[in-house]
Amino acid sequence: MSARNSSKPILPGSTIGVLGGGQLGRMFAMAARRLGYRVHTLAPDQDTPTGQVADVEVVAPYDDLDAVRAFARNVDVVTFEFENVPAAAATAAEAFALVRPTGQALHITQHRFREKTFLAQHGLPVSPYAPVRSEEELQKAVSSVGTPAVLKTAAFGYDGKGQASISDIESAEVAWASMKRQDAVLEKFVNLDREVSVVGARGVGGEFSAFAPFENAHSRHILDVSVAPASLPERLAKEAIEITRQVMVGLDYVGLLCIEFFVTRDGRLLVNELAPRPHNSAHLTFDACRTSQFEQQLRAICGLPLGSPDLLQPAAMANLLGDLWSDGEPNWAAALAVSSVKLHLYGKSEARPGRKMGHLTALAPTREEALRLVLQAREALRHR
Ligand SMILES: Nc1ncnc2c1ncn2[C@@H]1O[C@H](COP(=O)(O)OP(=O)(O)O)[C@@H](O)[C@H]1O
Ligand SMILES: [Mg+2]
Repeated sequence: MSARNSSKPILPGSTIGVLGGGQLGRMFAMAARRLGYRVHTLAPDQDTPTGQVADVEVVAPYDDLDAVRAFARNVDVVTFEFENVPAAAATAAEAFALVRPTGQALHITQHRFREKTFLAQHGLPVSPYAPVRSEEELQKAVSSVGTPAVLKTAAFGYDGKGQASISDIESAEVAWASMKRQDAVLEKFVNLDREVSVVGARGVGGEFSAFAPFENAHSRHILDVSVAPASLPERLAKEAIEITRQVMVGLDYVGLLCIEFFVTRDGRLLVNELAPRPHNSAHLTFDACRTSQFEQQLRAICGLPLGSPDLLQPAAMANLLGDLWSDGEPNWAAALAVSSVKLHLYGKSEARPGRKMGHLTALAPTREEALRLVLQAREALRHR
């Protein structure tokens, strides 16, 4: 059994275990294999995006703790590409392997109320919020937070799922009933100027490195486009990175973490949410930065020196959702004909609307030009 805070580096040739089977694990596995590591993945499905490129794919539900223990026994360090793994699974793995980040960090970040409480207790800026776990709390929350507001389920939300806009107590009642009265959080609606994110890495010895903020545009609550560098005053960019550092110290975090921020119309930063794993907004680091977010995650969890997060050239990333397949296979050749454009596909066979199937990146001398190129390439996919 390995000591949980062992500081001995995990060197190439070792085996990394990834809990989760999606595209984040896929790109992590590609980065890890490039550096000579072996990768095992555990997820409930077969032939997952991660499983397709891993050395070993274990198919088991996350709450099959015997399977998780057996998985952990065969690897040197366990990490995540999906945060909604039950905390019990992380704890079970901790008995047999290093787990980075820890089950405790996962426990906080997988639950919106615990996460916001952690942020507020550390003096970090969040939009006014209140817990909703009973009819009485719902009433209290609407009057203390005020409207307009957003009601969000406390757990298992992603890509805008489990969220509703609230204008008054009646709409709050209806929305909470449609969430089957699961534990939720009511959050004041933020008058947004823009959204940015910071991806930070923290090593075993506490060393910290962050990518400069990415600027993100959403469509139907799903990330649509990210651009680097963000157009953000230097003061706010520094503050966003400093908040990221403080969160990682507060969680005694080892690994990679993303913070999604709101920039208010009056020029303040608010933390929207944390993701204890690589993030969609940093996919452009694969092509545009000296170290990708996936290689940085690997370096952090293996106790290796963190890599340079420098942006080599302005870049833009556009997501490819399943909707693009509605009239047949997209025109890949047309997109790839656009100069500097790179195509990343996740190996998913079923293209459902709203499902993230892949992304495009473009590099250019300015971020405006990179954005123009990536959107041109995405549009070209439709011209079959
Ligand atoms: N309080 C809010 N005020 C304004 N917009 C919000 C608020 N909460 C969420 N949104 C919008 O919805 C998007 C998704 O919400 P988020 O809480 O990040 O959930 P998810 O887990 O689905 O990413 C945000 O990126 C933002 O565009
Ligand atoms: Mg989000």
